[in-house]
Amino acid sequence: MQSRVFQSLKITLPILAIVALAANIPSFAQEDNTDEPTNGEIKIGYGKALKIVNPQLAKQNWILECQGCHRADATGKVGEIPNMKGQVSKMLSVKGGQEYLSRVNGIAEAPISDSDLVDLMNWMLVEFDPDNIPETFSGFKAEAVGQLRRIPLDHTILDQRASLEVAMAELNSDK
Ligand code: HEC
Repeated sequence: MQSRVFQSLKITLPILAIVALAANIPSFAQEDNTDEPTNGEIKIGYGKALKIVNPQLAKQNWILECQGCHRADATGKVGEIPNMKGQVSKMLSVKGGQEYLSRVNGIAEAPISDSDLVDLMNWMLVEFDPDNIPETFSGFKAEAVGQLRRIPLDHTILDQRASLEVAMAELNSDK
């Protein structure tokens, strides 16, 4: 069973995604791409760089499959969609966090291949929270995520998220 928020948003999403993509197309052309990746190696200079095979496709998948719920800048919606900005990569440092990220419904059920999905996930980490990517993390891998996404999280998802939240808060207080 999926969370109710997820279900209800899923219905309105395709419309939003098409509007968002249409709105975004001109900006692809006009954008000053100086801080955009050019060769698959991304944004060196702050946070951690992860290898993104196809950053343009990852961004397009974000627009089509994710931002209708999460918003373009991943700040979400209070009480409904968790904020990821400056936050999401902390999950990599807590027990169960990588598994949660591979199984959360929006990710597990995205209608894209395992390899495109891990590219999107790695892109998301670098784009929205580079500073919290642990040094030891070398990126999500298609094989591992491919297995985990086939067992999406059930109705206990919000409880699991709550315990990750506690562990992440402890990370902060250790600093
Ligand atoms: C239908 C709305 C919806 C879509 C589409 C969606 N998500 Fe989500 N996402 C949520 C909700 C709601 C949560 C909170 C957990 C839950 O209830 O499923 C969440 C949680 C997450 C989380 C965990 C963040 C946290 O702090 O718990 C990540 C990462 C994430 N989504 C990424 C994505 C990506 C990447 C996509 C696109 C492939 C996507 N989501 C598509 C609604 C959505």
